Amino acid sequence: MTKKTTWSDRFESALHPAIAIFNASIGFDIELIEYDLTGSIAHAQMLGKTGIIATEEVDKLVAGLEQIRTEYHRGEFTPGVEAEDIHFAVERRLTDIVGDVGKKLHTARSRNDQVGTDVRLYLREEITNIRGKLREFQLVLLELAENNVETLIPGYTHLQRAQPLSLAHHLLAYVQMTQRDWERLGDVYKRTNISPLGCGALAGTTFPIDRQYSAQLLNFEAVYDNSLDGVSDRDFAIEFLCAASLIMVHLSRLSEEMILWSSEEFSFIKLKDSCATGSSIMPQKKNPDVPELVRGKTGRVFGHLQALLVMMKGLPLAYNKDLQEDKEGLFDGVKTVKACLEAMTILLAEGIEFKTSRLNSAVEEDFSNATDVADYLAAKGVPFREAYNLVGKVVKKSLTAGKLLKDLSLAEWQQLHPAFEEDIYQEIAPQTVVSARNSYGGTGFEQVRSAIARAKSQLSS
Ligand code: ARG
Repeated sequence: MTKKTTWSDRFESALHPAIAIFNASIGFDIELIEYDLTGSIAHAQMLGKTGIIATEEVDKLVAGLEQIRTEYHRGEFTPGVEAEDIHFAVERRLTDIVGDVGKKLHTARSRNDQVGTDVRLYLREEITNIRGKLREFQLVLLELAENNVETLIPGYTHLQRAQPLSLAHHLLAYVQMTQRDWERLGDVYKRTNISPLGCGALAGTTFPIDRQYSAQLLNFEAVYDNSLDGVSDRDFAIEFLCAASLIMVHLSRLSEEMILWSSEEFSFIKLKDSCATGSSIMPQKKNPDVPELVRGKTGRVFGHLQALLVMMKGLPLAYNKDLQEDKEGLFDGVKTVKACLEAMTILLAEGIEFKTSRLNSAVEEDFSNATDVADYLAAKGVPFREAYNLVGKVVKKSLTAGKLLKDLSLAEWQQLHPAFEEDIYQEIAPQTVVSARNSYGGTGFEQVRSAIARAKSQLSS
């Protein structure tokens, strides 16, 4: 049995050493130190403003807390398990520095509202960081799109060649997905930016505190209206992990495409040496490790979301120690999303090269212009379904003859239907096929150019 530490005289002996380790969160909640210090400073100032403690006492507390910050930055503050968690670690060090007045800091506060405050301050900042990284990622996509409006790429449904596309249109789809991610994080921010400080252990406090004041010092938009809710709500963290999971879904889908595109079979992109790795045994290999890792890491972010949902579902009000389990997954989710966004941004900016001539010719070698033949006839008054059946026949015939549609003679076309004229060749050329899809939101070059303009103004707002 170790020496009795933090608890009141209700306790006669200390925690079993193994239980102390089991109970401690200092190993991971040290991550919250800056927010714990900032939150404590605001709390101390509020205690001063309301006259709960004296101004000189506030000054001592604030100076002591700032000293801990400096010590931490210098690598001199390294609390161990005996501190249990970051909140006790800071309070204990503070009392070492400033003496007995340090013991006044926890007046009218509990670790329950304190930890809730810390996690919100942490997440608020990280949401802003992630939104910044999302923007950088989008800007790289947008630049690639601008440079590739008239580069063609096969478009797929069911991973079968469907209709050719502007490469820019394909890339802009990801700009839109991540734009929703950016907005979603903005919504999560609003619900993260509410102060639980002053909710106490669960029921509020007997002291004449001013919750609005400490919230204002910490730049919170509002305070929790119900103390029980304030100390036990983790909705904001769940919402964040949900938004983070969607970011990962989007990054993972793009990763999957990068992996396919860099394969010999597709050969749409070349991986540059700065973002590819070799094999330890097969000298010819160049592996797309970056997108593979992003795709692989997606699972753990989903896992953190699931873990937090399950952890919460059975908790009676208000605080339960289970809530200590909210942190590791949240921290890892934040780190993973940031790392993946960074890596994908580098990959797009300088790790790949689109093989544009290969892409432009890829769309020449298939039947992805078949819809356009049917549209050609339909525009000349042939009912679309009839035209569709007719083109199905030509495709079948061409396949048997080992030909593409562009290889058919005008006589062959006219045999099929007298409405075909010389212009059919121009109409089924990939550039025409793509540029003709000029409906709003479509892949037509004109549409893509205005989509780029819209995205630019979206991203700069
Ligand atoms: N380390 C704890 C946590 O992360 C702090 C709050 C402890 N509160 C309590 N009543 N034991 O949740």
